[in-house]
Amino acid sequence: MTDNVKIREVGPRDGLQNEKVWIDTSDKVEWINQLSETGLSYIELTSFVHPKWIPALADASEVVKAVKKKSSVTFGALVPNERGLERALEANIDEVAVFLSASETHNLKNINKSIKDTIPVLRDVIRGAKSNGKSVRAYVSTVFGCPYEGAVDIYQVKKLAVSLMEQGVDELSLGDTIGVATPKEIINVITEIKKEIKVSQIALHAHDTRGTALANVYAAYLLGVRAFDGAVGGLGGCPYAPGASGNVATEDLVYLLEGLGGKTGIELQSLIESGKWIQSKLGRDLPSHHLQLALAT
Ligand code: HMG
Ligand code: MG
Repeated sequence: MTDNVKIREVGPRDGLQNEKVWIDTSDKVEWINQLSETGLSYIELTSFVHPKWIPALADASEVVKAVKKKSSVTFGALVPNERGLERALEANIDEVAVFLSASETHNLKNINKSIKDTIPVLRDVIRGAKSNGKSVRAYVSTVFGCPYEGAVDIYQVKKLAVSLMEQGVDELSLGDTIGVATPKEIINVITEIKKEIKVSQIALHAHDTRGTALANVYAAYLLGVRAFDGAVGGLGGCPYAPGASGNVATEDLVYLLEGLGGKTGIELQSLIESGKWIQSKLGRDLPSHHLQLALAT
């Protein structure tokens, strides 16, 4: 089992999508450029969704075009449909991230379609991205629980995950959208998914709504997962999942994973500095343990 751990920074996308304070495009770009210097190998920059649905990311194309490109960093963005793909390709994104939910109600509220109708849309996006030489990751959301329906059937998650991978997706990110999982569910779900999908293609996208995110990361790590999503400062939340709060803070993730012997390639102190910077722009304290510790000492 490799010691290398891939951390995917989703702060500029998941972190900002639900923020009420408008962050200027130039500030987003400045922040992302700082993140690029921390040793991160992947940053999810924005979403090519409808600006009416996610106004905080209405400047998606401008952000992607203005960010300083760095060969060591892959820049990704969320893409819901063909229109989103056209915009993402025009802005020359490196990697496309498609998404759907394992629960019907969340999928409908989030992307205005049933799961059944979403699958062919994503198939076309995946095909289009691949034929343009882009790598593709796929999120399955509400894997461990839905804000509208409660418990989600593990076999429904597996069925969707397998069908996405069969379409050529490179990495599957399992989303605990409302931060409801405990290590027990992480073990149950990932053990089941691993029967069909290589563990090297599985990532965990943990939200920390109930304080279980780091414990869940540890459980996944013990099962061999080596890819984790995080947001600097512990920013984040889905606007179509009431009560959903921040992603696991990337700083706390790095500390945990390095402590376990994982190699992230990320410089913790620079990450904390970038957290301080975005916190000052947002004008509120962010939940990251390492960020608040650094500010207090
Ligand atoms: P819709 O209204 O059903 O779209 O929205 P439509 O296909 O009916 O088209 C209506 C109009 O929107 C048309 O324009 C389209 O061209 C336009 P008109 O002809 O009326 O002038 N349109 C677009 N414009 C710009 N970009 C596009 C686009 N698509 C259509 N991509 C849609 C459907 C998917 C667009 C909408 O529901 C949407 O944007 N949803 C985004 C929701 C979102 O971003 N949620 C948060 C991210 S998911 C998440 O946070 C979970 C995750 O973090 C993992 C986890 O935590 O579990 C990933
Ligand atoms: Mg999320």
